[in-house]
Amino acid sequence: MEPTLQATGIAKYFGSIRALEHVDFEIYPGEVVAVLGDNGAGKSTFIKILSGVYHPDQGEIRLNGELVRLNSPMDARKKGIETVYQDLALAPQVDVTSNIFLGREMMRKGLLGKIGFLDRKAMRDQVKNMLGQLKASVKSVNQVVDELSGGQRQAVAIVRAVSWGTNLVIMDEPTAALGVEESAKTLELIKEVKSKGIPVIFITHTIPFAFDVADRIVVLRLGKSVVNLMTHDTHMDEVVQWITGSKSVENNY
Ligand SMILES: Nc1ncnc2c1ncn2[C@@H]1O[C@H](COP(=O)(O)OP(=O)(O)OP(=O)(O)O)[C@@H](O)[C@H]1O
Ligand SMILES: [Mg+2]
Repeated sequence: MEPTLQATGIAKYFGSIRALEHVDFEIYPGEVVAVLGDNGAGKSTFIKILSGVYHPDQGEIRLNGELVRLNSPMDARKKGIETVYQDLALAPQVDVTSNIFLGREMMRKGLLGKIGFLDRKAMRDQVKNMLGQLKASVKSVNQVVDELSGGQRQAVAIVRAVSWGTNLVIMDEPTAALGVEESAKTLELIKEVKSKGIPVIFITHTIPFAFDVADRIVVLRLGKSVVNLMTHDTHMDEVVQWITGSKSVENNY
């Protein structure tokens, strides 16, 4: 089977800071891969490369076997890669519905089938439905995102990614601002996306969440991918050892 996404030899520098070096990564249809690592390990930088925010200084990305250049987040979204960013990246002055449909508003056929206009009602109904599924306590889908709490914003970003991701869904610490129930629901949504055959990259500092949903765990440390573990072949202590560096290739062999 061909990987949905394959990144090879990825490097990214910010001035003299080496954020990533020699990172190889692949993910297959229907697979959930947890990318774990300490603060500053390079996780967010890596997924920003996969979602068109940054260009890698070295390396290449293939989507369904084809070499791609992701020129912008919109370009990545057009290619079916949807991302929940750690810093969320919603439009603050715009309401919940518009944020979810940003750039892909539903058009209703106008008179004579020629003049399209935004079908606000259909969009609002769909958003209400999706937020309901997530049990997100957003009062009104007409509220501007600026007025929402961190958890509510996170729910909006998750709904947007899950709704539109056709090739790959990426979630960078999606549960960071969520309560217990919303976090559990987010894990369920990840499983739902997986069941549709769409792979998910899931970044979290909550290791039990990774064990709950991920088929595979990739650990980044100091900008390098240090280990690739099948979840069922490892355990939390081992993963923590790789994250902290008490276990490493140098220490083992
Ligand atoms: N825009 C930037 N300019 C300069 N340095 C950056 C920039 N973004 C990230 N870095 C640096 O790159 C390294 C990796 O950062 P990154 O945000 O990818 O880490 P992370 O694994 O996502 O950490 P966390 O778990 O805290 O979110 C860090 O040393 C960080 O300071
Ligand atoms: Mg990060």
